[in-house]
Amino acid sequence: MTVEYKFPEGFWWGSATSATQIEGATGKKGKNIWDHWYEVESNRFFDNVGPEVTSDFYHRYQEDIQLMKQTGHNTFRLSISWARLIPEGRGQVDQEAVQFYNKILDELIANDIEPFVNLFHFDMPLALQEEGGWESRAVVDAYVEYAKEAFRLFGDKVKKWFTFNEPIVPVEGGYLYDFHYPNVVDARRAAQVAYHTALASAKAIEVFRTVDVQDGKIGIVLNLTPSYPRSNHPADLKASRIADLFFNRSFLDPAVLGEYPQELVDILGEHGQLPETQPGDAEILKANTVDILGVNYYQPRRVKAKEHLPNPHSPFMPEWYFDHYEMPGRKMNIYRGWEIYEKGLYDIMINLKENYGNIESFVSENGMGVQDEHRFLQDGQIQDDYRIEFVQEHLKWLHRAIQEGCNTKGYHMWTFMDNWSWSNAYKNRYGFVSVNIDTQERTVKKSGEWFKQVAENNGF
Ligand code: NOJ
Repeated sequence: MTVEYKFPEGFWWGSATSATQIEGATGKKGKNIWDHWYEVESNRFFDNVGPEVTSDFYHRYQEDIQLMKQTGHNTFRLSISWARLIPEGRGQVDQEAVQFYNKILDELIANDIEPFVNLFHFDMPLALQEEGGWESRAVVDAYVEYAKEAFRLFGDKVKKWFTFNEPIVPVEGGYLYDFHYPNVVDARRAAQVAYHTALASAKAIEVFRTVDVQDGKIGIVLNLTPSYPRSNHPADLKASRIADLFFNRSFLDPAVLGEYPQELVDILGEHGQLPETQPGDAEILKANTVDILGVNYYQPRRVKAKEHLPNPHSPFMPEWYFDHYEMPGRKMNIYRGWEIYEKGLYDIMINLKENYGNIESFVSENGMGVQDEHRFLQDGQIQDDYRIEFVQEHLKWLHRAIQEGCNTKGYHMWTFMDNWSWSNAYKNRYGFVSVNIDTQERTVKKSGEWFKQVAENNGF
């Protein structure tokens, strides 16, 4: 068989998940903000389905790891639930949780699947949210203690660590656009949350490297959404540059370059939105940049210059600087409503190569959500040819980026098995493996079988 798109030797093939989305809220786990939000406002969740059971990975991890093998995984990303490991957020470590994560890590390693472990995937322990969550500097310290504990407990088994997944999403969801708890809409508080998260990441990296010397690598996973202007008109270009500052560079620059873009600082300063900082913070950010960057990519952002000037008496929002642009003719995922633009992945990687020191990277999430996916069920298997095409077309652009010298080491799809997707619950299915949420029965989709071939051939 000729492999036209061959990837570099040792390429990481796998998928990503997160604790709250797959484990189920069983065991002695402390509550996190998702358990709480569901308790107080279950109607904000699709079909009123909460995080109690999800895909029950807590009990089915052995079967699931076998399915990972069957779908060609040589690597797999999971996250640790902070509230499971340390139910109150700080203090006592729960031994049942330590055992649980050790069993998973051992099982993965025994099956030649390298674990990539992320410390925070949107799931703030409730006890700490009640202290102010990421708005509180003391919570940054609690996170650093948690990270230290995780490195100490699992550092012998885990050689790829990530401090955060998509840290901008809790900022957007929780403090700007009302789709995560605590449902605040306030740009200055959002800036404080973002700043403390970036600082927490740098401080955890410092601990990783100095206190508890580990022989692995540490990074962050960012959702990078290339910001494309409607046209080359200077006003459209400015709109796209500023959207890029807010939604990409606000985390990318501190994580990889160790400092914030001056233009972003100036804009926030002009509107009185700058977060509180402390002397010495800038040095911490500068000294503790990431070894490796995970890139989550789903769709681009298209913007145009503002058509109407914002009301200066309304509260400040990033959208004061751009309007969203619905480009005519763009390709859509008709089953989910998101744009599909495969070349975006290539553009991201080239940007990392040219402007971010060609940092070691990998695609840490990319995938296609599909509503009502059971309609594609035939003879007991989901025939998800659309997903195969989606992954394949993205991989072609990734392959080209690598040919052009980008330092990209792997591809993880979102996600391994259908899972609970926050307030969308089980609305959109993303997995290589379908899950019947009533019976918990797993079935490999056509894309899972296809992916195995790709991984085995290291290309297609
Ligand atoms: C990115 C997030 O990391 C993940 O938690 C989420 O479910 C997927 N995107 C799909 O929306």
